[in-house]
Amino acid sequence: MIYSRITGTGSYLPEKTLTNHDLEKMVDTSDEWIYSRTGIRERRIAAQGEFSSDLALKAAERAITAAGIERQSIDLIIFATSTPDMIFPSAACVLQDKLGIRNGAAFDIQAVCTGFVYALSTADKFIRSGQHRCALVVGAEVFSRILDWNDRSTCVLFGDGAGAVVLQASEKPGILSSHLHADGSYRDILCVPGTVSAGKVQGHPFLKMEGNAVFKFAVRVLEEVALEALEANCLDKSAIDWIVPHQANTRIIHATARKLGIPPERVVLTVDRHGNTSAASIPLALDEAVRDGRIKPGQRILMEGVGGGFTWGSVLLQW
Ligand code: ACO
Repeated sequence: MIYSRITGTGSYLPEKTLTNHDLEKMVDTSDEWIYSRTGIRERRIAAQGEFSSDLALKAAERAITAAGIERQSIDLIIFATSTPDMIFPSAACVLQDKLGIRNGAAFDIQAVCTGFVYALSTADKFIRSGQHRCALVVGAEVFSRILDWNDRSTCVLFGDGAGAVVLQASEKPGILSSHLHADGSYRDILCVPGTVSAGKVQGHPFLKMEGNAVFKFAVRVLEEVALEALEANCLDKSAIDWIVPHQANTRIIHATARKLGIPPERVVLTVDRHGNTSAASIPLALDEAVRDGRIKPGQRILMEGVGGGFTWGSVLLQW
């Protein structure tokens, strides 16, 4: 039986920090409003000319070093992003070139904030099929480019960043299960309803969100998908050592953990310093908890995400 295991993690945040106090000078808001509703204190913003693939390259190099592999052994790159460098080629192909890799498959996955969970689940299936042995799975975003910086209800929520993992074929698990879901009938409550056509921007090229509807949807499906993962593995919630959730806001994360009866000390939180980095948020949080020694060999980790589409899903794994 072939399984897949994460053998290295890496992440990267752009240098520029934008604090809530900085935002007070840009829109009619306050640190108190933002922090009490979201748990966010600051976020990072990519420099002009710094693209998702640039952030991903630094995260990927760190993951490759941590895994101790030759980059040429990577035969699959899956890049989760809603903010690729350009319409095409894919960010995965751009990253492949920047890494100097010339073979294997490379493609993007667009599932917004659930992107990394979708990408990891897809890579697991490719590896378990026996056709690929070593995958680089990346989540990287420059959401700062699709925000209306005059809209205080959305611009305070997001940040830029990248996280990556190396996923390798193994005789022991690894990834225990993954579950993916989508319901496109909710597509209007969180969207960027614009595109480029005939050389012009058509529609609205900035993020729009119905905050309350997103909040309720997220809390409901994050509980459902966690219970689904536990049931599929015949595990009790006490068997989960760490939840590494999508970092949208602390109220969503704490409400979900409370409903599941999982204490906050077993939840990895980075949203206070990163904001919501969409597809990058889970691998960023994972890398932090691996590097600071919280996540230890043998522990069970539940990753869960929810995002535009709507999409949602989980990956349960043994470290
Ligand atoms: N600063 C100050 N006031 C603000 C701001 C701001 N940045 N943004 C909105 N307000 C005002 C509104 O205008 C409104 O004023 P009014 O009462 O005079 O009309 C008031 O604050 C309350 O607005 P609400 O939208 O009802 O605020 P709420 O308490 O619901 O909080 C929030 C908004 C934080 C967005 C909340 O709905 C939420 O957490 N939703 C989840 C959305 C989320 O996290 N999305 C991330 C992307 S989706 C994902 O990753 C799954």
